[in-house]
Amino acid sequence: IQYFSALIVVAFLGGCNLDTRMSTFVTKGPIAEEQLNLFMLTVWVTGIIFVIVGGVFVYAVIKFRERPNDDRPMPSQGHGNPLVEIGLIGASILLLAIIAVPTLRAIWFTQETPDDPESRLGAWYQGDDLAEEEAENPLIIKVIGYQWWWAFEYPQLGITTANEMIIPAGKVVHLELRSIDVIHSFWLPRIAGKVDLIPGRTNSMWIQAGDNFAKWKEKQGLEGEGPELRQDYAKYLEEEIHDYYYGQCAEYCGESHARMLFRTTAVDDQAFAEWVADEKAGHGTPDGKSWDEWYTAYEENPEELTGDLNEGLKLFMGRAKCATCHTVNGNPRALGVAGPNLTNIGSRQSIAAGWLNHRAEDGSIDVEKQYDNLYKWIHEPEVVKPGNLMWKANGGGIGELIDEHGEPALLTDEEVSKLSLYLQSLK
Ligand code: CUA
Repeated sequence: IQYFSALIVVAFLGGCNLDTRMSTFVTKGPIAEEQLNLFMLTVWVTGIIFVIVGGVFVYAVIKFRERPNDDRPMPSQGHGNPLVEIGLIGASILLLAIIAVPTLRAIWFTQETPDDPESRLGAWYQGDDLAEEEAENPLIIKVIGYQWWWAFEYPQLGITTANEMIIPAGKVVHLELRSIDVIHSFWLPRIAGKVDLIPGRTNSMWIQAGDNFAKWKEKQGLEGEGPELRQDYAKYLEEEIHDYYYGQCAEYCGESHARMLFRTTAVDDQAFAEWVADEKAGHGTPDGKSWDEWYTAYEENPEELTGDLNEGLKLFMGRAKCATCHTVNGNPRALGVAGPNLTNIGSRQSIAAGWLNHRAEDGSIDVEKQYDNLYKWIHEPEVVKPGNLMWKANGGGIGELIDEHGEPALLTDEEVSKLSLYLQSLK
């Protein structure tokens, strides 16, 4: 029935892009599932009303149409039938209740605090010791909306990343949503959404990619514990949930709203721990010098620092002013917070808030495309994302402009290339 009604809806949306990475019909988490069920209920309720009302209308039009030489008497012209009116009001109230009750239930479910054992979410964890532990101390991610990109802070882990949120599969993740400027909306269609990010207040929601062990067992009709069940559960996560999910800002927030995307990867616990360690460690200098040595050379003898990566880093810290706005973990002087944190940007599968994608079909990074995307973004940010702050911070352009002395005022093509290579090496 669900697939059939999905088909009807798909028929209505025939013109839309049906890439399932953005599909609310292919759910991969409990919140999206709850929302899909609610959507389907609404489609059915309104669909049935549509058929009844439309049917009566068509019947009346055909049955009572004017015919040649029609000598049938004019039907009685009724007005104000209390029974009909009360009936219609009653039916409307009933229908609203049928939709409102599950709607409120779904809204509350989305916003529940995972550690409340009385909640529906809490009840899921009964009988799953591992999950109960995790529900008491869920992973918290602060999602901060900017025009037009996303910051993801992991306060318990002391790391911050941008535009690509990594989460452990099968676990509750508690999100605190804020905005630095205007209203944005967090929407990860296959997992959860949409909740607004509003300046001056914090909204919250929880998300989960895939079911937890208890819920998975319930759906499979399995009971009990044991290493074999755990293995099957791990297989389910591996095959169905570990994946790359597309997200999108869902509230109009200015010129580049449509280009305010994000990506989420759900990984296993070990990969998550490795990613966290890697983020914390950050990056060293291109040729293995300590940062102290590198900065001494940079200040006293910059020509000594040769090679594309050193050249790129020198630009990053100096002429291109990247470090004013961006942080790179490990680098003691790249501590800017106005722009995205660039730690491990070379490992991200997209840049410019998901707008420039370089993920290959097999899930690896297409290195050539990655270079092209970095080059394009640094060279013409205003073309990639109209109105963005990086462009404005650099005096309205980063490409090749000439100053009054005939010298390049902004970065040359060669400099953009070296910066791109340096950023690509941050992985
Ligand atoms: Cu942010 Cu639309």
